[in-house]
Amino acid sequence: MTINPVFTNASPLASVDPERQFLADVVEGLSARQKYLSAKYFYDAAGSDLFEAITRQPEYYPTRTELGILDADGPAIASALPRRADLVEFGSGSTVKVRRLLRHLPDLAAYVPVDVSESFLRSEADALAIDFPHLGIEPVAADFTRPFTLPDGLCGQSVAGFFPGSTIGNFEPPQAADLLAHFGRVLGRGATLIVGVDLVKDVDILEAAYDDTAGVTAAFNLNLLTRINRELGADFAVARFAHRTFFNPRASRIEMHLVSLDDQSVAIGGQTFSFTKGESIHTENSYKYTVATFRDLAAEAGWEPVSVWTDADALFSVHALRRR
Ligand code: SAH
Ligand code: AVI
Repeated sequence: MTINPVFTNASPLASVDPERQFLADVVEGLSARQKYLSAKYFYDAAGSDLFEAITRQPEYYPTRTELGILDADGPAIASALPRRADLVEFGSGSTVKVRRLLRHLPDLAAYVPVDVSESFLRSEADALAIDFPHLGIEPVAADFTRPFTLPDGLCGQSVAGFFPGSTIGNFEPPQAADLLAHFGRVLGRGATLIVGVDLVKDVDILEAAYDDTAGVTAAFNLNLLTRINRELGADFAVARFAHRTFFNPRASRIEMHLVSLDDQSVAIGGQTFSFTKGESIHTENSYKYTVATFRDLAAEAGWEPVSVWTDADALFSVHALRRR
């Protein structure tokens, strides 16, 4: 059986054609003094596969650590969720994490994975349906930062949210607070949200996680240029850019950049963008929090803390929050 995602962001509130939006965002980012691109564009089909490969690298501790927390504390995390709920996962990617929760949620009404990476979303929903044949699965292909509607006909007694992977860290704190407030509006008053949040730690561990020796994170970063070439007809010479990452302690974030190895120019959508040797495009931030700084951010967005679980080395945290 193939489960086709419902397309949302198609409301009058958000009717911009995705390809035109992509071009507009790329042009805006490459016109800035510090050039930048939005990290959400990493996730075409190849980008989703590369992200999955990152999660298997020995240096990339977040995925295996969060999975360890979900295994060790799964029953407690599941019991923070209301009975007979519909569960919405924001940025679901591979469904490996929700599977760890589902085994403790036998009475879940429906699971709603939401992701921009449409073909990956569909194949993951199909695979989940085989393994959980009695679970209603209602995938939604949407940009979760923009207005979108939940599928009609959800019939759980309430709606709960799941946002693992520390994807919240890919937003600057004011935008992260806006996003959490937006999720609160999508889920409704009194909702519960389970969020995975990466923690501040030793710089060497952080920097290695974003610069694995196998070069998978570098390939993930560079794939953004390949995607722009393919989808927007640009002519980036991908081999003339290099992956660079570092921890910025003042902002408490990992930054990823693509550095131009030469003076060069690139044509995109009828415009030309010049790069000097050493100039970078800032492609991603990955903010690292403490339990307290994340709770402050969530409080700003109308969420109060219920519980938090961490691993023994305090590398990663999983928070249960309730909407005021
Ligand atoms: N939750 C998974 C995947 C994390 S990777 C995990 O914990 O391993 C981030 C996921 O969010 C990707 O699947 C990506 O396609 C999706 N994503 C990123 N930005 C998004 C956006 N603005 N709207 C919807 N999905 C987004
Ligand atoms: C999805 N997100 C939380 C990942 C992160 O760790 O910030 C994306 C990523 N970028 C490079 N490696 C992984």
